[in-house]
Amino acid sequence: MADAYLIHAEPLGAAIRELVRGFGSEQREVELVTDNLIQANLTGHDSHGIGMLPRYSEAWAEGGLKANAHIKTLMDGGALLRVDGQAGFGQVVGHEAMTLAIERAKKFGSCIMALGNSHHLCRIGAWAEMAVAEGFVSIHFVNVISRPIVAPFGGRDARFGTNPFTVGIPVAGRDPILLDFATSVIAQGKARVAHNKREKLPPGRIIDNEGRDSDDPAYAVVDPLGAILAFGEHKGYGMAVACELLGGALSAGLVGGPATGERRVLNGMLTIVLDPKAIADAASFERETRAFLDWVTASPPRAGFDKVRLAGEPEREWRAKRLAEGIPVDANTWNELLEAAVRLKVDPAKISRLAGVKS
Ligand SMILES: NC(=O)c1ccc[n+]([C@@H]2O[C@H](COP(=O)([O-])OP(=O)(O)OC[C@H]3O[C@@H](n4cnc5c(N)ncnc54)[C@H](O)[C@@H]3O)[C@@H](O)[C@H]2O)c1
Repeated sequence: MADAYLIHAEPLGAAIRELVRGFGSEQREVELVTDNLIQANLTGHDSHGIGMLPRYSEAWAEGGLKANAHIKTLMDGGALLRVDGQAGFGQVVGHEAMTLAIERAKKFGSCIMALGNSHHLCRIGAWAEMAVAEGFVSIHFVNVISRPIVAPFGGRDARFGTNPFTVGIPVAGRDPILLDFATSVIAQGKARVAHNKREKLPPGRIIDNEGRDSDDPAYAVVDPLGAILAFGEHKGYGMAVACELLGGALSAGLVGGPATGERRVLNGMLTIVLDPKAIADAASFERETRAFLDWVTASPPRAGFDKVRLAGEPEREWRAKRLAEGIPVDANTWNELLEAAVRLKVDPAKISRLAGVKS
């Protein structure tokens, strides 16, 4: 058996569509879930790609993830919205909530949208991309309701999730800025990917179940669990707390706590969508943005770097490469997907056939 398979986006998408049908999803849901996960792989974030589906299938089997659920509006103040994701696929309810927020930003110049009770919203950058495509700024504070996996600064055990923070900024005539990261030093899925590939982590990423420094990604994946550290020490930790309070307590009305053993992953998200033309002088915003980005990226590269990049650029580079060469899927992840197929009563041989994988 190969250690990894290199699969082009199209056949991989066909296989994943077939798998997602196993949830009993309507066609639009099949498309949204598949496209979102494949896009995460294409942008280099395997931690948030098709490798999430085994976890989704376990959450679905327990009743923690609902197929064919849609957003329900809980509060509609025009440019102020609160919606409930009804434990539906984040790929669907996230898309619906963002569509609504963008519609309102077009009408009012801005919209603050609180989304709670969404199943995993996956790569938060995907939601900023929707707003940026309309020429809007988009800011997201997100909390995670799942088994805690990140330790507070100075603490020796996990107390919260990898709470991502994301900002999208359109740049006239150029690619947008897309800053999108977990407030943990690595996303939990990156530890899962390293664990599946039997790789070690660099120092300063993880502590073991006794609170000691470790390089073993297993401490973020299987029992006994340790914890991932927050990025930037007290600063990333503080940002994670802000994400928990804004995405969780404020938007979702639900914050993380001790592990419950459930397999679902819920996200709460506070989103601010802003039309720059509605608040700023469009000409000076465009001019100053371009001038600053030119100035910053003209910094001569340091040893070990080929150039200075802007947020969003690595993802575009990954996308171009993987669209041309294919998406690498390690054998452990592929086997987990086939196990998920069995759970979803989908023929695993058909999944392999559609992807062109000979296992
Ligand atoms: N839904 C959830 O519960 C959840 C939780 C955590 C993370 N996530 C997602 O996981 C994904 C991965 O997060 P991560 O923290 O591993 O990301 P990461 O560490 O790869 O950082 C990504 C960000 O840094 C930028 N970047 C990377 N290299 C750069 C360089 N050389 N120069 C300039 N900018 C650079 C990228 O463009 C991007 O904005 C994100 O999409 C995030 O939304 C989701």
